[in-house]
Amino acid sequence: MSDLVRLIDVPSLGDDRGSLVALEGSETVPFDIKRVYYIFGTKAGVSRGFHAHRALKQVVVSVTGSCRMLLDDGKKKEEVLLDSPTKGLVIEGLVWREIYDFTPDCVLLVLASQKYDEADYIRNYDDFLKVVGV
Ligand code: TYD
Repeated sequence: MSDLVRLIDVPSLGDDRGSLVALEGSETVPFDIKRVYYIFGTKAGVSRGFHAHRALKQVVVSVTGSCRMLLDDGKKKEEVLLDSPTKGLVIEGLVWREIYDFTPDCVLLVLASQKYDEADYIRNYDDFLKVVGV
């Protein structure tokens, strides 16, 4: 896998009542969290993403259900299965991502280092390859 992305095990504070996961900025999450969003109710056959970010850092967790994410740094591609509320995918730097194979119950939680800024997006794959110098 590209060294721009990595999976982290997020600690589950489980007891006999069930499980609880706490994600703290600058601790488990390696940046200050400025924005949280979640994707759910994704229709069958839908793929999302198809972009890279210039500066944004994200941690992505499938809280319920599962999906697959393709990560591409312009040289290598890697598919990651997100299927656990205790598995976090950290994405830093220039990585093209595509998300697909959502189960109907998938709730994909995203913690982000910046507020929404369309100027941070690279939405064209050829532009992405130029920016990464491929
Ligand atoms: P989009 O970036 O197309 O989602 P994805 O890349 O996951 O397929 O976002 C869908 C719409 O939501 C688009 O109009 C931008 C808007 N949006 C916000 O306003 N704020 C946000 O934090 C995000 C992620 C998207």
